[in-house]
This record gives sequence, structure tokens and C-alpha cells, in this order.
Amino acid sequence: MAGIYVHIPFCKSKCGYCGFYSIPSIKLKDRFLEALKKEIILRKDYLKGQAVVTIYFGGGTPSLLTIEEIGGLLHLINDTFHVIENPEITLEANPDTLTMEYLKGLRHLGVNRLSIGIQSFFDNDLKYLGRKHDAHHAQQCLDWAKLAGFDNISIDLIYGLPTSNAEQWNRNLDIFFAYNLPHLSAYALTLEPNSILTKQIEQGRALPINEEDALRDYDILCQRAKENGYLHYEISNFCHRGMHSKHNASYWFGTPYLGLGPSAHSFDGTSRQWNMANLEQYCEAYSAASRHCEEERRSNPDKELRYLDCFVPRNDAKRVKDSVLEVEQLTPEQQYDEYVMLRLRTHWGIDLKWLKREMGERFSTYCEQQAQPLIAQGRLSQTREFFYLTDNQMLFADGVAEELFWE
Ligand SMILES: C[S@@+](CC[C@H](N)C(=O)[O-])C[C@H]1O[C@@H](n2cnc3c(N)ncnc32)[C@H](O)[C@@H]1O
Ligand code: SF4
Repeated sequence: MAGIYVHIPFCKSKCGYCGFYSIPSIKLKDRFLEALKKEIILRKDYLKGQAVVTIYFGGGTPSLLTIEEIGGLLHLINDTFHVIENPEITLEANPDTLTMEYLKGLRHLGVNRLSIGIQSFFDNDLKYLGRKHDAHHAQQCLDWAKLAGFDNISIDLIYGLPTSNAEQWNRNLDIFFAYNLPHLSAYALTLEPNSILTKQIEQGRALPINEEDALRDYDILCQRAKENGYLHYEISNFCHRGMHSKHNASYWFGTPYLGLGPSAHSFDGTSRQWNMANLEQYCEAYSAASRHCEEERRSNPDKELRYLDCFVPRNDAKRVKDSVLEVEQLTPEQQYDEYVMLRLRTHWGIDLKWLKREMGERFSTYCEQQAQPLIAQGRLSQTREFFYLTDNQMLFADGVAEELFWE
């Protein structure tokens, strides 16, 4: 089983708070799509023929691509990889890019899951965040998505905003529950280094944020999601039973995935690879690699050519520098740390039996030892062979994970 992530690095403009890799212009869209198609072909063996069960278009703003462009990418992915009959296909969409016609087009292509970046149903919050849409359009595109035939819809909301308060956050949640959508991702506003909002706050030009607001809103969120029958399956994710994001779950379960596009990460079970977060370099490198590969194939048709051989200079070193792609071979200790960090965030928890079976007794014993003081402090709980974060530690998962880390 495997997943494919496609990063679309364009936005209409940069939202104040955002730290994701994207550029506020679509000038390079055609060049990017050419390079992306080359990357798809060059990396056709990455998943070693494993069945692709999820495809995820993330960003940036994937809904800035036309229906034909998304269709072309899906077609090529289907032709290149072993994609199962009815994969989960998710597309992240910004409300200001959506129309009824566009949504119908997506549905027609087989996109069956939408993740819509609503952020808030209130104009004062949206203005503070620097969003392009307004509260009216936020609701309108949910109506359209339903009418267009989407039943697997998720929305993103951001809490802990200084423009909001407990009452307004409750009203945001009222609107979400009224739509009876199967999935919600809700994030505490974080100040990313060098983001526009961070600078504005530093210069006293935007309201500062405070941790108490985020903690208050998170309590409200967890309580109300429970009352409304949602499963809290990851720190920031809530769903109707069985409606969790299959694609994101593959990250938490260590399923291999191929990440395409600038800044996208890939994982093959033991090593991580990531494309450089630089669109120009990405386009240049994949075009050059594709040319080089064709030349090599022409001059030496019998030679087996691995993907990394296509890059110039050749990258067979452990950690590849000076190219578009970086590779990091994970040591068993790093694999253990990753497992702890990812699984602690979820309601599946850390499975000691799995650790013992897959990684050896050295790791399961270490984890058990490190967990004891955390259990005594009430930061971790144990049920049979599983460790879980306690409810009041959900927003402090990283700190708890660090105590369990090997390195
Ligand atoms: C990949 S991003 C953006 C997807 C899409 N372009 C959009 O804006 O709707 C996914 C989500 O991360 C959340 N996010 C991004 N930066 C954040 C920040 N600094 N603090 C909290 N949430 C953030 C937002 O809710 C956003 O919708
Ligand atoms: S939040 Fe979404 S739309 Fe805004 S800059 Fe980030 S990726 Fe682009």
C-alpha cells in the first residue's frame, strides 16, 4: 500500500500567517506542470509497484489549477503507477477559487474528497488572517460542494485568534456542526518565523496572540466535537467514524508515500527524501534530469538507470547535496523517534508490541522505561500495551515525545 502527494506551489497571495512553501503568482505554472510530469515519469519506480490507495493534491492552492490540468496529472499518475480501482483522491481548495462549475468538474474527474480552507466563518477573523474570501463565500462553497456531489468534505478552521473569543469560536463550531460534515481539521494559530503576521505583530501593527486563548478554544473544540459524535483521532483532526483522512493516516502508520513537487517529502519505509523548496530550481533540475536520462538511455539502452542516476552530478552518496533532492537514510534510532512522534499525536497511540516485533526489544524496553515518569506525572496514559497522550497534554505532544526520544 502506498500514497502519492502532489504539492502545487502557487497561491493568489500570501496569507499573513502561512509558512507553507508557495509563491503568490501563477506565472510559472506551465513550466512547473512540465517539470512535474517529468518528475512523475522519472520517479515511476519509487513505490516499487505497490498499490497506490490515496492521492493528495496539497499546497499552496491546488484549486488554482484548471480541471484539465488536474485531469492531465491524474491521467499520468494512473498510467505510471499501480493505482487501485477507487482511490481516495483529496484536493485542498481555497474558497475564493471555487465555483459550482469547477466543483462539478472535480467530481467528474474522480476527486472524491475536498479539504476546504475556511479558517473562520467570521469576517473579522478572515481579515486578520489576510484571507481572500469572506464569511458569506465560506458558507456558499460548502453548499456548492454538497450540491456538486461531494460527501467527503473536510474544512480547516484556525482558533486562538485575538479577533475572536469563546462565543465567536462556539459560533464557528455551530456552523460546522450544522453542515454535518464528516471531517474537521482545527489548528491553533502559530506564528511562523518570517511570516507577514509575525512581522506585523512584532512591529505592533497587528493584535498579538496569546496561549490562553488557544487553550480555551481547544478545550471548547474537544468537548463539543465529542458531544456531536466526532472521533478525535489526531491532535488537530476530528471525524465521523471511518471518515478519517486515509492519506494522512498513512504518514502516521509509516506507509510509503511519494511526494511530488517542490518541498514535497517522500518516504520509502527507511529513508526520507525531499525536493528543494525552490520552484525555479525544481523546474530546472527535473528538466535537466529528464534530458540527461534520455541521452543515457539512447547511448546505452541496456543499462539499468536508477532515478538518482539521472541527476548531474550523480547522487549516490548517502546524503545528496547540491541537487534538487535531499536524501536521508534513517537509522533505527531515528525510525524509533519518528514512530514515537507521529503515533503519539494519534488516538492509535504507541504500540509496544509493534515496537518489539518490528524494531526489537531494545526499543520497546527503552520506551517503557522512559514512559514511567510521564505516566506518574499524568502526561501519558497506558492501556494494555499502548501509550497515549492524556487529554490535557494534547497541545504539548512535542514535549512529551521528546522525553521518549532516543536521540
Ligand atoms: C497547506 S495549508 C493551506 C491550504 C489552502 N491553501 C488554504 O489556505 O486553504 C493547510 C492548513 O494549514 C493551516 N495553517 C497554515 N498555517 C498555519 C498557521 N500558521 N497556524 C495555524 N494553522 C495554519 C490552515 O488552516 C490551512 O488551511
Ligand atoms: S494558507 Fe493557503 S492560500 Fe494562504 S498562503 Fe498558505 S497555502 Fe497559500
